[in-house]
Amino acid sequence: MMDYKELIEASFEAQKNSYAPYSKFNVGASVLTKQGKIYAGANIENASYPAGICAERVAMSKAISEGEKEFVAICISCSGDTYPYPCGVCRQFMSEFSKDLDVIVAKSKDEFKIFKLTELLPHSFDGDCL
Ligand code: THU
Repeated sequence: MMDYKELIEASFEAQKNSYAPYSKFNVGASVLTKQGKIYAGANIENASYPAGICAERVAMSKAISEGEKEFVAICISCSGDTYPYPCGVCRQFMSEFSKDLDVIVAKSKDEFKIFKLTELLPHSFDGDCL
């Protein structure tokens, strides 16, 4: 198993910039690219609730818009005492880029679980379906 210590720490660090005045549920996410670079993001809510965006899509969009397309892992952390499983929209968003992605859900820096994205989103809809 890869050592994801730095990636997990980046996710907790990103959580500090969460803008979640409505749910008060702060989420941080960090993605590791195949080149070994880390991009991180947090959830950003909006008074018009559906306009908000999850931390995973912020982190990945930051990386993609910098030219990254290949990812090894994503770590998600949150302010609640729970494993922050990614929502369905984020699972679909992530699967566009890396089917083999390791998804780390971290309750704390030492308490985390690792899944393959294909476990969380089996039989996904993708470009081959079109
Ligand atoms: N949230 C995320 O950032 N990632 C997820 O996968 C689940 C939910 C955010 C969205 C919203 O700001 C807050 O958590 C409560 O749903």
